[in-house]
Amino acid sequence: MRKKLVAGNWKMHFTPPAARKFAEEMKTKLCTPDVDAVLCVPYVSLQSVMDALAGSLVKVGAQNMHYMDEGAYTGEISGEMLASMGVPYVIIGHSERRERFGETDTTVNLKTLKALQHKITPIVCVGESQRQRREKRTAAVLRKQITFALDEVRPSEMAKIVIAYEPIWAIGTGEAATLEQAEEACEMIREHIMDNMGEKAAQTVRILYGGSVTPENASALFAMPNIDGGLVGGASVKPSFEQVVRYGK
Ligand code: 13P
Repeated sequence: MRKKLVAGNWKMHFTPPAARKFAEEMKTKLCTPDVDAVLCVPYVSLQSVMDALAGSLVKVGAQNMHYMDEGAYTGEISGEMLASMGVPYVIIGHSERRERFGETDTTVNLKTLKALQHKITPIVCVGESQRQRREKRTAAVLRKQITFALDEVRPSEMAKIVIAYEPIWAIGTGEAATLEQAEEACEMIREHIMDNMGEKAAQTVRILYGGSVTPENASALFAMPNIDGGLVGGASVKPSFEQVVRYGK
């Protein structure tokens, strides 16, 4: 049985003091033994949110990291730095980073391997554009993204990886994928992992759905057999995120 995971992706929201306040207000509400709840926050708020969540089951995550441990990479943060702070999760390859910050399948793979090396759980994002879906290329796009992202990852490591299926057309649009679309894509991702890494890897990896998840649609989405929770943007910076997390049960 895979434990559900619901991660909030705050994106570029909340100053560090506001982040601390929100985390303090939410920490007991998000605590449920049935669901792993994670807050993926801006780098500058990692420490204040970790302090606020101390002693709680709710965990913190970063939204990106570099694949080198150190070097002349102005403005970047390494996995080694995150690991030394005790950050347990990191989002890798979000479509906003792929589209606007030059993230490629190759950097996604390097970051995934580096996160695993530092014992940080990567939440690896994949997803097709509106056009790719219209042209019926969704399956091919997802297979390619997954194949690249997981290159040189060992099947035994799949229990420590989270995949987030985030169709680009559903992100921030208020138009979530239908239950059928979300389940079909997550099932396809699991089958692809089974074909390439075996049954055990496919059954242990957690696959999330992301894209306009709300307290209204979360419960039905998270109940689908191949959807192990959600990666939630807009709805994660509101107090009603509590309901979204609890629907993971
Ligand atoms: P929304 O939930 O705001 O659509 O964002 C989804 C997302 O990008 C999570 O990473």
